Amino acid sequence: MDTQKIKDKFKELFGSEGTLYTSPGRINLIGEHTDYNGGFVLPGAIDKAMYVMIKPNGMDKVRSFALDLDESSEFGIKDDKDQPKEQWASYIFGVVREMQKKGKQVPGFDIVMSGEVPLGAGMSSSAALESAVGFALNDIYNLGFSRPEIATIGQATEHNYIGVKCGIMDQFASCMGKEGSLIRLDCRSLEHEYVPFDPKGYKLVLINTCVPHNLAAGGEYNKRRASCEAVVAEIAKNHPEVELLRDADMKMLEEVKDKVDPVDYMRAEFFIGEVQRLLDTCEALKEGDYETVGQKMYETHEGLSKKYEVSCPELDFLIDQAKKHGVTGARVMGGGFGGCTINLVKEDKIDNFVKEATEAYEKEFNIKPKVYDVVIKDGARKLD
Ligand code: GLA
Repeated sequence: MDTQKIKDKFKELFGSEGTLYTSPGRINLIGEHTDYNGGFVLPGAIDKAMYVMIKPNGMDKVRSFALDLDESSEFGIKDDKDQPKEQWASYIFGVVREMQKKGKQVPGFDIVMSGEVPLGAGMSSSAALESAVGFALNDIYNLGFSRPEIATIGQATEHNYIGVKCGIMDQFASCMGKEGSLIRLDCRSLEHEYVPFDPKGYKLVLINTCVPHNLAAGGEYNKRRASCEAVVAEIAKNHPEVELLRDADMKMLEEVKDKVDPVDYMRAEFFIGEVQRLLDTCEALKEGDYETVGQKMYETHEGLSKKYEVSCPELDFLIDQAKKHGVTGARVMGGGFGGCTINLVKEDKIDNFVKEATEAYEKEFNIKPKVYDVVIKDGARKLD
């Protein structure tokens, strides 16, 4: 990333330089739509990030500029009514407001942002932005939040200012990522363990369908969460200890089969299977058994496509291409409804797979897909 452009713009707009911070996007190897159910996830921060230059301005407002959109937004931060109309600026606004709700003084500041996490691609560009802003404000104003707290501030921003009832995975990975490791995160307790990820002879390749997803629009993401909560409410009538779907098992789900909506049942069935697949994957990773890891990824895609219904024809097509060209494992990554597939590929198969799959995809949908190699990197940090 050429951060010089951010510095130059900051100087042009505000007359001096500020401090530069970055926070990355994430991949998730397996464990999808499990975070808001209190389950496990296995994400890692990546080498594609958001960057913010920031400096207190001595006013009670924020002056912000999004370099990639060439748009500015100026807004107050004293009242929820000050929320800016631009969604990108609302991420900044939300982080400030959530910090204030926790009793902290957050005076006004100037900010220029830019990023290399593709938007709407399932790589958590929004969490990267929230985490970069949260980390930066925490640092310049010495607010004393821990990294997991900054992650929950980003999550609350999504809930209260964007309208996506997301889980904690994306912000946690962006704040807590560690080079070379995935994070096995228990989303109920936030207990976590770094799992070294160095699949010798394999690489992770992302293919972006370039079908953009916006989890806030259409409300499909929130509906998935509501389905899971409806099942929990029914199970809890007989098992009051069940507070999240994570606490339920297949037997409990079967007991309420006739009482819940069949679609909600199917969503819950996916989730219970996904918890097991993640645990199996962690075992396979310990053994260096990437064939099993890959098989679990394909099974997850099948579930996300048929039972959780967060895939789309373009994503399914790319998964079929992966199978056809000997990819070890592949699935839709992130919230779904578009965005990227994540592919675990043997190094000697990458070139052929990428060539064949992208050509076939373009022929079928008349869209040029984008391909990214990813490397697992550190989470939020100060630069310079
Ligand atoms: C989005 C959300 C996450 C998570 C994933 C699906 O990325 O922000 O909290 O629910 O979808 O696993």
